[in-house]
Amino acid sequence: MANIAVIGTGYVGSVSGACLADFGNRVICVDSNADKIESFKKGIVPIYEPGLDAVIERNIKAGRLMFTTDMAFAIRETNVVFIAVGTPPAEDGGADLSHVEAAAREIGQLINSYTVVVNKSTVPVGTGSKVSAWIRGELEKRKLDIPCDVVSNPEFLREGSAVFDFTHPDRVVIGSDSGRARELMKEVYRSLYLNETPYIETNVESAEMIKYASNAFLAVKISFINEIANLCEKTGANVQDVAKAMGKDGRIGSKFLHAGPGYGGSCFPKDTRALARIGRDAGEVQNIVETTIKANESQKLRMVRKIEDALGGPGSVTGKTIAVLGLAFKPNTDDMRESPAITICGELIRSGALLRLYDPAAMKEAAWRLESFRGAVCFASDEYDALEGAAALVLLTEWNQFRNLDLVKVKKLLALPFFFDFRNVYKREEAEKAGLRYFGVGKR
Ligand code: UGA
Repeated sequence: MANIAVIGTGYVGSVSGACLADFGNRVICVDSNADKIESFKKGIVPIYEPGLDAVIERNIKAGRLMFTTDMAFAIRETNVVFIAVGTPPAEDGGADLSHVEAAAREIGQLINSYTVVVNKSTVPVGTGSKVSAWIRGELEKRKLDIPCDVVSNPEFLREGSAVFDFTHPDRVVIGSDSGRARELMKEVYRSLYLNETPYIETNVESAEMIKYASNAFLAVKISFINEIANLCEKTGANVQDVAKAMGKDGRIGSKFLHAGPGYGGSCFPKDTRALARIGRDAGEVQNIVETTIKANESQKLRMVRKIEDALGGPGSVTGKTIAVLGLAFKPNTDDMRESPAITICGELIRSGALLRLYDPAAMKEAAWRLESFRGAVCFASDEYDALEGAAALVLLTEWNQFRNLDLVKVKKLLALPFFFDFRNVYKREEAEKAGLRYFGVGKR
C-alpha cells in the first residue's frame, strides 16, 4: 500500500483522501486553511457530502488518515503526492492555475526522494509538463537532482454521490510516461485494479483531455435534450418519452438525458468554458462545445420567460410572490455554484417578483449568494411554508422531499394555481387533478 499526501481538502481532495485511505493506503491530507483542518480532525466535515463523514471517521480511527497544515511533514512522510487544489475559472474563461503552481513549487522545495506527483485537479492539456517544470525549477534552486514523475489522474466523481463514485468508478485513468510511476499508481488503486475496474493508462496529455472531453460531452448531452425538449413543446411531443426511447439505444444510453432548467455546478460550466478556450487558443474551435455553452445560458432564461408567459406576458410577475423550491444546482448538495436557480431567481426579481425560497441544504449558501436581492427574497422554513399566498410554485431542484408533495395542499396554499415543474418530477394529470395549472419542460 502507498504512502500518500493529498494537497487541498475541497471536494475532490477530501473525498480522494478519505477513499484512498479506505482502500488501505496511508494518507495525509494537507491544507493551508487551519480552521478546515481542525474541523476535519474533529470529524466534522465542512462540506455537505452524504457518507463522507463516516469514511473519514473510520479511517482516522484506523490510523490510516490524518489531517495537517504541515506541508513539509506531509511530503516527508510520503512518496505519492496528489494535487487536488482548486482551478477556478480565470477571467478569459480558461483555468486559473495559480494554486496548482503554488502546490507544485512547494513540492519542489520539499521533496527529498523519488516522488510521484499526481494531478487530480481539472487542468488544461499541457499542465502536466508545466507542473514538472515548476518542480524541476525549485529543485534546481536547491541544486538537487531528485527524480520525480508527474501523473495525470482525473477524477470523475459527482457531488452528492462522491464517495460511491470514487469507490465504484466506471474507469480509472492514469496518464504517465514513466513505468516506475505507473507501478506505484497500481499500488495506490490496488483494490480497484484487482477488482476489474477498467484501468486505462495513457500519456499525460490524453488523460488531461479525457477529463474535459468527458465533462463537455455530458454537458452537450444535457443541452441537446434541452433543445429537443423545447422543440417538443412546439410540436406536441413529450421529451420524457423521447428520452426514454432514445436511451434504450445502447449507443446513446439513458443517462444525462433529463431535460431541465440547464446544467450548473462547479464543473460543467467551468470545464466547457475552459475547453472552448483551449480550442480557440489552439486554433481548433470546438463549435459543439461553444454552442452548448450558449444553449445552456438560454435554457435558464427560457424558464423565466415560461413563467412570465403563463402568468400573462412581460411584466406579469411584477409585484407577485413566487415560491421557489430547490436552490442547489442538484439534489444532495448545498452547492449553488452556477446553479440555474441563481439566474432564474435573479431574473424574476429584476422583473419585479418577490420570492419565497426553500432548499433542504442550501439555505445558508443562498443567504449570501442572494444577498444583493435582500428586499425581494424571504426564506421559508419548509416546502409548504414557501407556498403560502404565492402566485406560483417553481420547482428547480429535484430533492427527494419535493417528489412527493401533497398537491391538493399545494393548491390550497397557493394564491394562484401555477405549478412550474422544471425537473419534470410530476405528471400533468396528477397536478391538474389537484386543480393546478401545470408547466413542465418539453411536454405540453
Ligand atoms: C460532474 C460530472 O458528472 C462528474 O463526472 C465530474 O467528475 C464532475 O462534474 C467534476 O468534474 O468534478 P457534478 O457537477 O457533481 O458532476 O454534477 P452532475 O450530476 O454531473 O450534474 C451537473 C448538472 O447537470 C446539474 O445541474 C444537473 O442538474 C444537470 N443535469 C444532469 C441535467 O440537467 N440533466 C441530466 O440529465 C443530468
